[in-house]
Amino acid sequence: MEYSFSDYTKGLRSSAVRDILKLTQGKSIISLAGGLPAEDYFPLEAVREAFDRVFREGGKGAMQYGLTEGYTPLREAICRRMATKNMEVKPEHMLLTTGSQQAIDLLVRVYLSPGDVVLVENPTYLAALQIFQASGVQVIGVEADSNGMKLDDLEAKLERCRPKLVYVTPTFANPTGKVWSLDRRAGLLRLCKPRNVLILEDDPYGEIKFDSAADYPTIFSLDKHPEDCGVVYTSTFSKTVVPALRSGWVIGDSRVIGQMTRAKQAADLHSSAIDQQALYQLLTHFDLDAHIGTIREEYRQRMMRMRELLLAPRFADLRWEEPRGGMFFWVELPEGIRSGELLKLAVQEGVAFVPGTDFYAEHPQLNRMRLNFTHTAPELMGVAMDRLAAALETYKAQAAL
Ligand SMILES: Cc1ncc(COP(=O)(O)O)c(C=O)c1O
Repeated sequence: MEYSFSDYTKGLRSSAVRDILKLTQGKSIISLAGGLPAEDYFPLEAVREAFDRVFREGGKGAMQYGLTEGYTPLREAICRRMATKNMEVKPEHMLLTTGSQQAIDLLVRVYLSPGDVVLVENPTYLAALQIFQASGVQVIGVEADSNGMKLDDLEAKLERCRPKLVYVTPTFANPTGKVWSLDRRAGLLRLCKPRNVLILEDDPYGEIKFDSAADYPTIFSLDKHPEDCGVVYTSTFSKTVVPALRSGWVIGDSRVIGQMTRAKQAADLHSSAIDQQALYQLLTHFDLDAHIGTIREEYRQRMMRMRELLLAPRFADLRWEEPRGGMFFWVELPEGIRSGELLKLAVQEGVAFVPGTDFYAEHPQLNRMRLNFTHTAPELMGVAMDRLAAALETYKAQAAL
């Protein structure tokens, strides 16, 4: 049989993270690669109890097909959580999705056609790039500094490239860990909305902030009202509860959400109804905010541990900024070190990370790597960084750097 695949597959690239996760599975490799939460902090009992309630109270009805929009009580509960972040939305502005990954995919399906232009931070989340590239969309990077996209470059590219969408992760970006200033958030909205350029705000990490009192208003909240909104916002329970529930949500103008709902009908009818009911029970009977407080503190400590190790003299030629939340250090290696090559040596030593190259829409920097600090237990972190140091030493010796 000669298989003849669609144009869609021509743009499909395998995710470096997924490939690395495969490489590390079942081996004694310490992985600093995936954006994985700490298993020790999964609220296992609460999740078990939530499912028990669904089985006890919902009976067989709980096993039936559900609405494409998602389980209504859960949508209402998420609306109440959104309202505490100055995002006043009604269930008709919300669609529950199979992770926020599906929200990105659905928006691209209903809003972008092959040849359309999307502006992104460069580097940006590589699985969003995968979707854009598979959809035949032209992806253009906007210059940025530690406060977010530079507004002058953004404005120039809005004029020159005529994008339909700008995709951003303004709070603890993946991979850079960056937090946009309020000025840049407001500036993005001010520049995009009058030009009819939609903003997709991806916010999986906003809750993982190390300073609980810090306020990072979402761009969606700056636009005040979901109707006629210039922003589509997506978030997820993957980082705050567990990724396995594959439960995310997306909010926006009801016309956009309506189209996305139809696209979801075609894609998968609905996300797992039983998981959504369990999440609703969890939100009702479990103090999720207290749990988020616990993981914030644990992740802050893990970040501080990695920071301490990165400050050692043997890593003096690495450049990085201390993350204020999220899950990653974004590290610049000395000029001449290719992180993809370094990874091969690192895996031989027993540690993995994600090379930076795949996060770039254009002009990839070869000497960047992303280190995850949330998944590895603090007592293993020293071993992991010893292995990374050994790989770096071998690399430098081989390349005579
Ligand atoms: C920036 C960003 N967006 C979206 C996702 C997808 O998350 P999920 O589909 O688990 O909600 C991730 C996962 O790591 C991410 O880092």
